[in-house]
Amino acid sequence: MTIDLTFTEYTPEDLKKAFIKLYGGSAAAVNTYSSPARINIIGEHIDYNGGKVFPASINRYLYIAIRKRTDSKVLYNDVRFPGSYEFDINQNFVYDKANDYANYLNGILQQLKERGFKFSCGFEILMASNIPAGGGISSSSALECGFAYAVIDTFGFNLDRIEIAKLGQMSEHNFMNVKCGIMDQFIIATGKKNYAELLDCNTLEYEYVPLELGDYRFVVMNTNKVRKLADSKYNERRGQCEQALKILQDNGVKIGALCELTPADWEKHSYLVSDPILNKRAKHCIAENQRVIDAAATLKAGNLKKLGQLLNASHKSLKEDYEVTGIELDTLAETAQNQDGCLGARMTGAGFGGCAIALVHKDKIDTFIEKVQTEYEKVIGYKAGFFQCETGDGVKKL
Ligand code: GLA
Repeated sequence: MTIDLTFTEYTPEDLKKAFIKLYGGSAAAVNTYSSPARINIIGEHIDYNGGKVFPASINRYLYIAIRKRTDSKVLYNDVRFPGSYEFDINQNFVYDKANDYANYLNGILQQLKERGFKFSCGFEILMASNIPAGGGISSSSALECGFAYAVIDTFGFNLDRIEIAKLGQMSEHNFMNVKCGIMDQFIIATGKKNYAELLDCNTLEYEYVPLELGDYRFVVMNTNKVRKLADSKYNERRGQCEQALKILQDNGVKIGALCELTPADWEKHSYLVSDPILNKRAKHCIAENQRVIDAAATLKAGNLKKLGQLLNASHKSLKEDYEVTGIELDTLAETAQNQDGCLGARMTGAGFGGCAIALVHKDKIDTFIEKVQTEYEKVIGYKAGFFQCETGDGVKKL
């Protein structure tokens, strides 16, 4: 099925029109939903170590149009991705490589069925995303949570936003074999325009912190690097943290997660983790958790200069101790850090490619992008992508 629509940025209205063109029928029963991308301001690779993270949902969205059917078919289409997927709501959903992006959605349906939710009929959806796929600002969590919200709302299932985040995380674990933390799905499910969110991943308690940046803005810088092996390296890092934690516990340190240690505690216990790689991984987590606490306090106090320094320190730690950056992210972040009007920059998300963010004075953004782009192209050989972002709401019905 070919959908002949040539929009560059999709709007929900475009999507509804495309939906009718594709499936026919009337627009009256079609509902649309939006699901945002996210940046993580600071707190990387510590959500799965019981740490605190500080993400914000941003104004780049995936839109989903959905309508119930009279039969039991489940149809998925996306205006940008090839392939039209057809399933039956009564089937058992399992991962299948051939199903490509449909796996994320089937992972959600399977979770819902396992929780005992009953579908009275099938449904059809069409999606359009303005979030770069695989770009490190959580296109996949936007898909999982946006789809989960749309389905839950359409069928009247009683599940709150935190449960939606958990469904998304489990779909990623069970269907995609990425043992991710909860941060991405959580912020996408609960984010609010004008706010960042300070989330304690141990307790899932969270606090909205006004993202007041004065004359500064976050610029997202996309490495445009094709991420190979990112998932296996992600799981490997998670495994290393688990090993470090076990060594500490076996030696009598009474903690349930690495981030329960303060930097002062770590000074005392660090010698127990004698493997240099495991030691560096744990060191990053504990220091990063403290940086998150400091960053939230700094933002509340309006000290953006200090916030910028924390971003730089976070990048350095992810480069040297956690080793998840690579030349593309380092070139972007380090070039950005040296530009006039930039208070700080760091990679955001899982790393190994994907995106970095920079806090830049609004009047300097154009020159900033030009300079970083020139240097990036010189070093890497192809162009990076840039956009200035604002905060946006979490998943919602339009
Ligand atoms: C990915 C995962 C998150 C988190 C980040 C790193 O985005 O989905 O759970 O671990 O990487 O901070």
